[in-house]
Amino acid sequence: MKKIIELLNLEVMEAFEKAGYEKEYGAVTLSNRSDLCQYQCNGALAAAKKYKKAPIMIANEVLSILEKSSTFKEIKAIMPGFINIILQDSFLADYLNGMKNAEQFGVEKTKQPLKIVIDYGGPNVAKPLHVGHLRSAIIGESIKRIAKFAGHEVIGDVHLGDWGLQMGLIITELKKRTPDLVYFDDTFTGEYPEEPPFTISELEEIYPFANAYSKEHPEYREEAMNATFLLQSGKPGYMALWNHILNVSISDLKKNYEKLNVEFDLWKKESDAQPYIPDMVQYLKDHNYARISEGALVVDVKEETDTKEIPPCMILKSDGATLYNTTDLATIVERKKLFAPDAILYVVDKRQELYFEQIFRCAKKTKLIDETVNLTFLGFGTMNGKDGKPFKTRDGGVMRLEKLIQEITDAVYEKVMSNREMDQQEAREIAGKVGLAAIKYGDLSNQASKDYIFDLERFTSFEGNTGPYILYTIVRIKSILNKYQTEVGKINQDTQILGADSDSERELMLALVKFNEMIENAYSENAPHKVCQYIYDLSNAFSRFYHDTKIITENNKVKQNSWISLICLTEDILNTCIDLLGLEAPERM
Ligand code: ARG
Repeated sequence: MKKIIELLNLEVMEAFEKAGYEKEYGAVTLSNRSDLCQYQCNGALAAAKKYKKAPIMIANEVLSILEKSSTFKEIKAIMPGFINIILQDSFLADYLNGMKNAEQFGVEKTKQPLKIVIDYGGPNVAKPLHVGHLRSAIIGESIKRIAKFAGHEVIGDVHLGDWGLQMGLIITELKKRTPDLVYFDDTFTGEYPEEPPFTISELEEIYPFANAYSKEHPEYREEAMNATFLLQSGKPGYMALWNHILNVSISDLKKNYEKLNVEFDLWKKESDAQPYIPDMVQYLKDHNYARISEGALVVDVKEETDTKEIPPCMILKSDGATLYNTTDLATIVERKKLFAPDAILYVVDKRQELYFEQIFRCAKKTKLIDETVNLTFLGFGTMNGKDGKPFKTRDGGVMRLEKLIQEITDAVYEKVMSNREMDQQEAREIAGKVGLAAIKYGDLSNQASKDYIFDLERFTSFEGNTGPYILYTIVRIKSILNKYQTEVGKINQDTQILGADSDSERELMLALVKFNEMIENAYSENAPHKVCQYIYDLSNAFSRFYHDTKIITENNKVKQNSWISLICLTEDILNTCIDLLGLEAPERM
């Protein structure tokens, strides 16, 4: 289905052409004075310069053509040459009926689907998930859903960090605590019990301890680096431990992501890219892309036009060790081989922007990936506390994701239970959904690249631009529809929506028809916040309509049926949108 703005463009452009002007001048935009009109065209002002004619004359000529059209209820030329547009109510209603009957409300799946890998989540094995990983998971998940809705083939990859120093630190600490474990026996050959020698909570205590300890004890750190090296060279006992760490950690991560309603298509890890490294390094050397600098192997990536210093991309350290860079480049090679993607999108903390710039340049310059593959970095800002500093627990530690979710759902639970009787289990379920919506919407409603302040009070409020308010709107619609069904009759899915006869009804319709355009923008700009802005406006429009309209007691059945159809459509679109954000609405709240 064509977007409403496209339909208007077509018609107004044609009129410009008929009146003897270039049709490009007929571009229509949303009105920036919604008190005066719904849409507007400013083309006559621009055309005036080219055709050396007063803009108002041009506008009037175009108008004489458009006045006959059934699209417009009112179309006027306003000094000095604006064209103000108010749509015919029946035109709006027809458009909505079209949306109602079309698949995906008229958003057609793209005819040129791209294969897109989205690299998001990025948790590190054995380290607890913290709020930084929360943002990547929430934003990446929503972008993935939006791209799928638009018709693309999307592969979401969690890209686990499982190959760094944290592994050596854990192994070193385990060795200190339990030197008798079979894994530390030099004759260990690879046969070992399935039972891991630690639990997830032990693991999560070990890593921060070892990390802190290594900062004060250089010899311990040295040992951990050596253990990392031995692991990466395939020492059987360490490989076995690494496997244990991985298994324990991944099953815990899966639980956490499930709670967040985040689902990955792939559970690939940094270590999976390691086999690609030797050939890649050889290739870079053979083609003279890489050079030795102070013993290290580097690729220069600076360009003439740079205004800031872009350091070379380091491939191997002087001792031959690989780095985060090496892994990311090898992962690009791996992804090319496995999926031949058209695009790879990285949803990572914006502090890694320069790093990714180096990686992208290096991959393109050395032809590890084709020039045509779109490599995009979507950097997100920091989630701050009310003090404007990165979000911490009350005692100053890094907030664990699980705890954060718990705190929020507890707060929502209190609200749900206050002043009424409700089954505890139901209240818990509601609090789970609403709490998650509070966190996710609080995050997604901001432009991803911006820092934002985590404000529990505001995010959990049932009023304002919040997740709970959106869910509450959906729940309200459900309850009206239930009431209608018990007090009036069955809902007829085929009922047509009729032209509006009140301002608030018209506003609701105008909000609904923007769906198609919103999806296109949210997809092309990787911008879930556009979905949030849309459903917030839509929810407000619904609330005003609902406030103004006595739906259940209306005597005019034709009108009443049309309203029911209209709010069914509103509910369906809201549900579709929250699904794109990764939220779910409860039955009541
Ligand atoms: N594990 C990394 C971190 O915690 C994020 C990974 C991002 N993705 C990537 N391909 N480097 O910072």
